Amino acid sequence: MAAVLESLIFLSLLRKSCMPLRTILRYPDSRLHKIAKPVTVFDDRLKQLVTDMAETMYEAPGIGLAATQIDVHEQVIVLDVSETRDQLQVLINPEILWTSEERRVYDEGCLSVPGIFDGVERPSHVKIRAWNVDGVASEFEADGLLAVCVQHEMDHLRGKVFVEYLSPLKRNRIKSKLQKEERELKKDRQPVPVR
Ligand code: NI
Repeated sequence: MAAVLESLIFLSLLRKSCMPLRTILRYPDSRLHKIAKPVTVFDDRLKQLVTDMAETMYEAPGIGLAATQIDVHEQVIVLDVSETRDQLQVLINPEILWTSEERRVYDEGCLSVPGIFDGVERPSHVKIRAWNVDGVASEFEADGLLAVCVQHEMDHLRGKVFVEYLSPLKRNRIKSKLQKEERELKKDRQPVPVR
């Protein structure tokens, strides 16, 4: 994939720009369950969306972000599983062409479910077709962390959050914990009364 070159161009754009970060929705926000529509127009608006998403992901910091998580319901994913944080990949309208029968359990986390990590079993290898920001399609195979990340982000586009793979008991505990944190955050955001 020409992802390396693409990422270098994007990173240099990112460093020069100073775009506002987008707000990441937190589970159990119902907007995380919306189904994303395919991208049909590959224009400057899309490039801006991708740039904002990449900046938001790096700043968070995270290894992947789906547009759904910033309340944009289009099939756009950014990810970077490199240790050097300089190999941005952009997946538009991604499709899974093949999955291995072999499955693996990975401890997953999510920017929309902060502080929670738990094991999810998925196919260990996948073959993907996706478009880049210029509307050029390519196919690639992924294993290891990249395979996990791609499948996790593609779930977001279908309105699915990784905690939905966990038992209802665990999911409810996570839901209450995050709802409590959200209430605390809201309290902190209240203006301090002037005396
Ligand atoms: Ni996620």
